[in-house]
Amino acid sequence: MKLNGVVPWGRTLEEYKLMFALSDADLSKKIVGCGDGPASFNAEMTELGYSVVSIDPVYQFSAEQIKQRVQETYEPVISQVKQNVNRYYWKNFSNADELGLARLAAMDKFLLDYETGAAAGRYLPQSLPSLELFDDQFELCVCSHLLFLYSEQLSLDFHLASIHELLRISPEVRIFPLLKLDCELSPYVEPVVQEFSSRGCNVEVRSVAYEFQKGGNQMLKINR
Ligand SMILES: C[S@@+](CC[C@H](N)C(=O)[O-])C[C@H]1O[C@@H](n2cnc3c(N)ncnc32)[C@H](O)[C@@H]1O
Repeated sequence: MKLNGVVPWGRTLEEYKLMFALSDADLSKKIVGCGDGPASFNAEMTELGYSVVSIDPVYQFSAEQIKQRVQETYEPVISQVKQNVNRYYWKNFSNADELGLARLAAMDKFLLDYETGAAAGRYLPQSLPSLELFDDQFELCVCSHLLFLYSEQLSLDFHLASIHELLRISPEVRIFPLLKLDCELSPYVEPVVQEFSSRGCNVEVRSVAYEFQKGGNQMLKINR
């Protein structure tokens, strides 16, 4: 199942560190970023000598096409944020325009790295719930602003199958945020926690130091 019309915006390494409470030891692991889109996470991590592979269906497109898609969605998204300004916590960004500029700056970093990274196999055009990757190919999987956030578009079955797949390629999966786009808690958090706990996984909801959607300061950490 593909997420149509998703805004392919990306966040920075600093934001990933906060969203996923990444320690120095975590950063040194073989990491897979699922649904990274035009985040600068991979580019920045690679520059620092770390190992990250990003997977996203958007990587079937050229740098120019991705840039165009981000630019097309820029105005509608920024104006939606402006209309719902009270849903967000304005600590790191003082307003919607500043947020937009930060997202474009992250995309520019991503674009500079994209062709080299794709040639090196760091940007793979693949889609959940089924990935052409080996069992335990990675040590840590991070998935931000895809699962749970798009609960209105992606079913519970999609979530369960996707997380099962991520736990196949990595023994640990971290998902952020647990909220939907309307900033309400995803109804899938509870069934996901129950499903993977009953399979013997260690499942933990952990508070983190990142909050942009009000109340969105928790991630789900699953270890099999
Ligand atoms: C809102 S963006 C989040 C980007 C990045 N993770 C971040 O937080 O900055 C959601 C991303 O999920 C990707 N996506 C959509 N459907 C997907 C699927 N089935 N499997 C993997 N990624 C998908 C989109 O292309 C998009 O880049």
